[in-house]
Amino acid sequence: MRAACITQLEGPDAIEVLDLPDPTPRKGQVVVAVEHAGLNFPDLLMSRGLYQIRPPLPFAPGGEIAGRVAALGEGVTDFEVGDRVLALTFFGGFATQVAIPAAQLTRVPESMDLETAGAFAFTYATSYHALVDRGRLSAGERLLVLGAAGGVGLAAVEIGAALGAEVVAAASSDEKLALCAAHGATHLVDYAKQDLKEALKALGGVDVVYDPVGGAYSEPSLRALRPGGRHLVVGFAAGDIPAVRLNLVLLKQCEVVGVAWGSWAVANPHRHRANLDALFALHAEGKLRPHISRRYTLDEVPQALRDLDERRVLGKGVIQVAAG
Ligand SMILES: NC(=O)c1ccc[n+]([C@@H]2O[C@H](COP(=O)([O-])OP(=O)(O)OC[C@H]3O[C@@H](n4cnc5c(N)ncnc54)[C@H](OP(=O)(O)O)[C@@H]3O)[C@@H](O)[C@H]2O)c1
Repeated sequence: MRAACITQLEGPDAIEVLDLPDPTPRKGQVVVAVEHAGLNFPDLLMSRGLYQIRPPLPFAPGGEIAGRVAALGEGVTDFEVGDRVLALTFFGGFATQVAIPAAQLTRVPESMDLETAGAFAFTYATSYHALVDRGRLSAGERLLVLGAAGGVGLAAVEIGAALGAEVVAAASSDEKLALCAAHGATHLVDYAKQDLKEALKALGGVDVVYDPVGGAYSEPSLRALRPGGRHLVVGFAAGDIPAVRLNLVLLKQCEVVGVAWGSWAVANPHRHRANLDALFALHAEGKLRPHISRRYTLDEVPQALRDLDERRVLGKGVIQVAAG
């Protein structure tokens, strides 16, 4: 098999496509012939050794895949060769084949094509868990999404709108904000041009902040919370981890809520599966329309990660693994 591997923890340029032996499925495992693998920010962090998961070198990044079952290990009865499946791999997905426990596979519904399936679960399941399980977002509440045109951000915009929230999208360009408007945001803030604090004050505050960016945007967003508001700490794409003084939490009568979806999904597989089913239903109803803006081959994985690093990917990028 071919795999785009991190050979040294020196960022996107240290990724090489290697020819490796094909995996054979162990007991309870399935080998999937990967067709599409979604691109996510943790792939970039892993290339620098900055993510909480640090597999031994060399390893392929790639946290989610979709493809067809190619071989079954002993004891696997739930799947057949040729079944359309998606899986959260956390790493190893930028490869033509992956061996994975059958319990980690999800059948792709007929209503979803395999490319969408390869770019769906990581971001949509993160944002659904954040907004529903952790944020308790209700219809009629106002939701602010930072980095709203990014992978988890655009998923949060769509899910928020589908749940009946009023969505305020904050992003860094007109093109990004137009995409957010097309996916359900009704208020737009360009934080590269506007003062975020003033813009949110003029809007009259928000009930929930979805924050995958951190840096200088977190504190003005938390300050915009109405009493009883929730600030969802999702990630730090800007690089800086902000320090917020706790008196602000008291004065705002708000909650600061940590979101660690991957660990939660592993510890709560049944609830995670129920969330995926809810997301598949929203997709089948046309309420979620995942946006894939860039496509790459396995050889182009370094470019894909550079594009993420330089904020050029709108919605999702996908590695078209089967394309060569
Ligand atoms: N907690 C969890 O369970 C969980 C799960 C998945 C992902 N995450 C985290 O969520 C964050 C976003 O992931 P993603 O896959 O959605 O990434 P993404 O598609 O690259 O989106 C990140 C967005 O952040 C904004 N940004 C601001 N400063 C940036 C910078 N210096 N570099 C890159 N982007 C910057 C960009 O929007 P603008 O240009 O509009 O500012 C970009 O669209 C990451 O930190 C990731 O690790 C957390």
